[in-house]
This record gives sequence, structure tokens and C-alpha cells, in this order.
Amino acid sequence: MSGSSVSAATGQVPEWTPDSWRSKPIKQCPEYPDREALAKSVAALKRLPPIVHPREIVELKQHLRDVAQGKAFLLQGGDCAELFDYCEQNAIESKIKLLLQMSLVLLWGANKRVVRIGRMAGQYAKPRSSPMETVNGKQVPSFRGDILNGFHPDERELDPDRLVRAYHHSSATLNYVRAAIASGIADLSRPLDWGLGHVRDPALKAKYQKAVDFLKDMRAFLHTIGAENEKFHTVDLFTSHEGLLLEYEEPLTRLLDDPTSPPSRPPTKAYYNTSAHFLWIGDRTRQLDHAHVEFFRGIANPLGVKVGPTTPASDLLALLRTLNPSREPGKITLITRYGADRVGELLPAHIRAVEDSEYARTVVWQCDPMHGNTRSVTGGIKTRRFSDIFSELQQTLRIHKEQGSYLGGVHLELTGDAVTECLGGSEGLDEDDLSTNYTSFCDPRLNEKQALELAFLIADHYRSERVEEDCES
Ligand code: PEP
Ligand code: CO
Repeated sequence: MSGSSVSAATGQVPEWTPDSWRSKPIKQCPEYPDREALAKSVAALKRLPPIVHPREIVELKQHLRDVAQGKAFLLQGGDCAELFDYCEQNAIESKIKLLLQMSLVLLWGANKRVVRIGRMAGQYAKPRSSPMETVNGKQVPSFRGDILNGFHPDERELDPDRLVRAYHHSSATLNYVRAAIASGIADLSRPLDWGLGHVRDPALKAKYQKAVDFLKDMRAFLHTIGAENEKFHTVDLFTSHEGLLLEYEEPLTRLLDDPTSPPSRPPTKAYYNTSAHFLWIGDRTRQLDHAHVEFFRGIANPLGVKVGPTTPASDLLALLRTLNPSREPGKITLITRYGADRVGELLPAHIRAVEDSEYARTVVWQCDPMHGNTRSVTGGIKTRRFSDIFSELQQTLRIHKEQGSYLGGVHLELTGDAVTECLGGSEGLDEDDLSTNYTSFCDPRLNEKQALELAFLIADHYRSERVEEDCES
């Protein structure tokens, strides 16, 4: 067992088991009408092999320790709601390529190794603010993600078979991610499409062109010295999803050998959630005394916690003490998402609460500039303005700098496709453009160009910071 929480009354750490969450109050919990079918699906999941291996989980944790200590940068991105239909060659490849391309830009800007985590191969469960929604004038149960029910209004009943289908789609996706990477999809000797034709502002375009020229030169240089196939042949891409549906997470949690145990002694064991490398607790389910925190305190994986306007600073420390009592650096990623208009008021106190405590320099601070900036426009379409996303990110970078802490990563909703879901960016998408290619079944995502542009903007921040530091020294 790797977590603990101390009871105020007895000072004791209550025992943790993979099902101890069941005795706690729980939010967003599905009430499956067919308990027998549910039990059958859970039994099937229990028998199936792990999707990811503890060795990979431990490796990611080591990378995240480097991020917490300011030596690396974390890029996490993918769909808001991954659908079973996205388990398909092009969708998977375009996401891998986009994350790779963004990470090259970040590497150039921050001059730090980039750790990549996809919101993919399992991001199938969605928390909802309301259990019912209106579709074509009719009240139907809300779509809760492919692992629970279907998007089509006729498929809104909870279906326990979907738990097993989620497992198979998750493993097929990860299988292709591994195969594509092993076959050189991330090979830098292949030309990448850096087309900047859409960037309207000439100054911005010139800036991006400088980065692209540098990356192209680097590729040519590596080719000249024959090094491109050595270190750069493959990239690591870890998987993640919101750990929302505990009926799925529990049977995939296994007591396994700790791969870091010294070979001279019998291995120690820990509970690994083998459904993904990284799991996060969402904004609606992070109550200290509730089921999700109880479940995740016993898991050895690195974990994220969403932090927003409704998180009291005191909860942050209590969460860290419960989820990471041994203060492992990089174990917890705090994913902050306040909105561009609130971040200035709220983030500094959250940083101080953590960085002035015994948890200083142990957490990864990651900015999610998406979830505090969702708006509805005419016709009730959900969107986000690129300028708000960028503003929250820019303010977050500045505040961390002022507070002497390190913004170690970004958490983005994006897709490799040319969707029109977020407003603005250098293509200048406006409200009338939203209907052109709006395909998200949940939150609006950055398209390929907007996502890359955000990477350029972050890179630019770190580069100017480095220039300033060089001038000062
Ligand atoms: C999400 O990441 O898709 C999400 C629902 O975020 P949050 O929990 O921060 O609202
Ligand atoms: Co979302």
C-alpha cells in the first residue's frame, strides 16, 4: 500500500483495500440497473491482463520527479471525451504526431526534456453537471462517455458491457501507439509538416519561422553526424485518463512486484492501476472524505488532481498528505484550472500553501487553461476563446515566476484534426466558423494549428526568460 490518510479521532491510518472506496460517499457514481451484468463485466476485467506494466509506471514517475525539480517539462493532451470510434489508425497517428511536434517546439523553447502523456487509450468516462439533458426537445439521460452509455439519444441507458469494450479499445489504441512509435512514426529523419500558411500576423509568422528553421537545421545536423537514429528514433508517450469510474479502475488495480526492488531481496509489492500510466482526480470528485480520494490514496501510479476556484488552499495540503504521505517528488501533479479572469486572484495562495509547506518542490504544477474558460455562444454551443486560453497560461507562467515556483507542464484538450471548436488563434476562427467542423462530443478542443501555436507561445516565454537570465549573469 502506498497511501494513507490519518483519522482525526484516532490518529491512525485506516486500512486501504482496492474496494475500501465503497464505504465512502461518492459523486458522479453510475447506478447500474442490471447488477448481474455489472458483476459479469467486472469479473471479465479482473481476469484480463494489465494494459500497462508497472515498469512503465515507475519510469513515468521518475520522469515526473525531474519535472517537479524543474529539470523537464510535461506536455499532456488529447480529447476531452475519447470515443471508441477514435480507436482508428489516422486519429491515433495524428495525435501522436501533434504531441511530438509540440514537444519539439517546447524542447527548443524551454531547453528541457519533454515528458509526453496522451489523454488517450482510456479517456472514456465524463463527469456531468446534470444527470439529464435536452436533445431535440426531449429530456434524456446525459451522455457520460462511451464507457458508460452512448451518445446517440437511443443509447443513453447505462450498459455494463461497455466496461469491457473500454478495456479492448484502450488496449487496441495503446497497442497501435506502441507499434507506431516502435516503427519510427516519431523519427526525426521524416519531414514534419510545419506549414504556417494560416498565420496572418507577419510578426508572429516570422517568430514561428525562426523556430521551425532551427528545428529543421537540427534535423539536418543530426543526419549529418549520423545521430538521428540513435536517441531520436523513438519517443515515450504515456497514457492517462480521469479516474472517474471506479467500477473500471478497481478490477484493473493489481498487487504487483515493485520493479525498483533490489534484485538481492524478495521484491516488495504495491498496488498499480494498470488501466493507464497516469490517472487524475477530476474537479468534481476530489472531496477529501469521499470515494475517489480513498481509492487513489492506495495506488502507486503518479496521480493528478484538478485544482480550481472551489479548492480551498487548506484542502490542497490535506490532499497531498493523504495521497502522498511519503512526499515522493513527482507523485502528484496539481492541474490548475481557474479561468483567465480568476487565476490572478487564486493561484498565488495555492502556490504558497504548497511551497511553504513540507511539500515544497515535490509537486508538478501543471496549467490546464481549458476548463476554466468554457463559454456558451448563441445556440448553446460550447466554445473557448484562444485568447482566454493563452491569457490563463501566460498569467500562470508569470505568477509561478513571481512566486519562485516552477510551472512544469500544460494540460490541453486538443486533436490532430482541423476542427473548429475554439475561437480565435492565428486562423482567426469566429462564431460563424464553429459549425464548419465541430465534432467534439464534450468540450471544445484546440485544432492542430491552435495547439501548435500555443506550444510556440510557451516556447517563446521560456526563450525570453533564458535571454533575460543570460543578460543578468
Ligand atoms: C476534463 O479534464 O475533461 C474535466 C472534466 O476537467 P475538470 O475536472 O477540471 O472539470
Ligand atoms: Co474537458
